[in-house]
Amino acid sequence: MRKFAMLMAVVMVAVFSVGVTVAANAPGTVTIKEVQKIKPPVTFQHKAHADRIKNCAECHHKDAAGKEQKCFDCHKAEKTGAAVSQKDAMHTRCKGCHSKDATKKAPTKCDGCHKK
Ligand code: HEC
Ligand code: HEC
Ligand code: HEC
Ligand code: HEC
Repeated sequence: MRKFAMLMAVVMVAVFSVGVTVAANAPGTVTIKEVQKIKPPVTFQHKAHADRIKNCAECHHKDAAGKEQKCFDCHKAEKTGAAVSQKDAMHTRCKGCHSKDATKKAPTKCDGCHKK
C-alpha cells in the first residue's frame, strides 16, 4: 500500500509539472495584427483558448510541443507554396470551430473578431 502511495505521488508530480510547463509557455492575450489591408486587428484570448482546447497542435499543426511559432512565420499575406494566406489559415481554423460552438459565444460575424 505504501509503495502504491509513493508511486501515485511520483505520477501526480509528473502530471502536474507537465501542466505547468505547457501553461507557462502559452502567451496570454495577443493581438493578431500581421496583415491590415482592410480589417482591424483581432484581439485573441490565447491562453483561455489553449486551456479550453488543451491540444496545442489543434492550431500549431506543424510545431513540436514547446516550439510553437506564429502562424505568420509560414502563412503570409498571400499564399506561399503550399501554405495558404494568413487570412485563409485564420478563417479556416478560427471560424471553423466558432461556427460549431453550441453556446453561440464564439464570434462568427466579422466585427466580432475584427474590432475597431
Ligand atoms: C473568428 C474570428 C474572425 C472572424 C469571425 C472573421 N475574421 Fe477575418 N481574420 C481573422 C484573423 C485572426 C485574421 C488575421 C489578422 C492579421 O493577421 O492581422 C483575419 C484576417 C482577415 C483579412 C486579411 C487582413 C486584411 O485586412 O486584409 C480580411 C480581409 C478579413 N479577415 C476579412 C474578414 C471578413 C470580411 C469577415 C466577416 C465575413 C471576417 N474577416 C471574419 C479572424 C476573423
Ligand atoms: C486556438 C488556436 C491556438 C491554440 C489552441 C494554441 N495557440 Fe499558440 N498561438 C495561436 C496563434 C494564432 C498565435 C499567433 C498570434 C500572433 O500572430 O501574434 C499563437 C502564438 C503562440 C506563441 C508565440 C510564438 C511567437 O513566436 O511569438 C507561442 C509560444 C504559443 N502560441 C504557444 C502555444 C502553446 C504552448 C499552446 C498550448 C498550450 C498553444 N499555443 C495553443 C493559436 C493557438
Ligand atoms: C512551419 C510552417 C507552418 C506554421 C508555423 C503554420 N502552418 Fe498552417 N500550414 C502550413 C502548410 C505548409 C500548409 C499546407 C497544408 C499542409 O502541408 O498541411 C498549412 C495548412 C494550414 C491550414 C489548412 C488550410 C486549408 O485550407 O486546407 C490551416 C487551417 C492552417 N494551416 C492554420 C494554421 C494556424 C492557425 C497556424 C498557427 C497557429 C499555422 N497554420 C501555422 C504551414 C504552417
Ligand atoms: C476549437 C475551437 C476554437 C478555435 C480553434 C478557436 N476558437 Fe475562439 N472561441 C471558441 C469558443 C468556444 C469561444 C467562446 C468562449 C466563451 O465561452 O466565452 C471563443 C471565443 C472567441 C472570442 C471572443 C471571446 C474572447 O476570447 O475574446 C474571440 C475574439 C475568438 N474566440 C477568436 C479566435 C481566433 C482569432 C481564433 C483562431 C486563431 C480562434 N478563436 C480559434 C472556440 C475556438
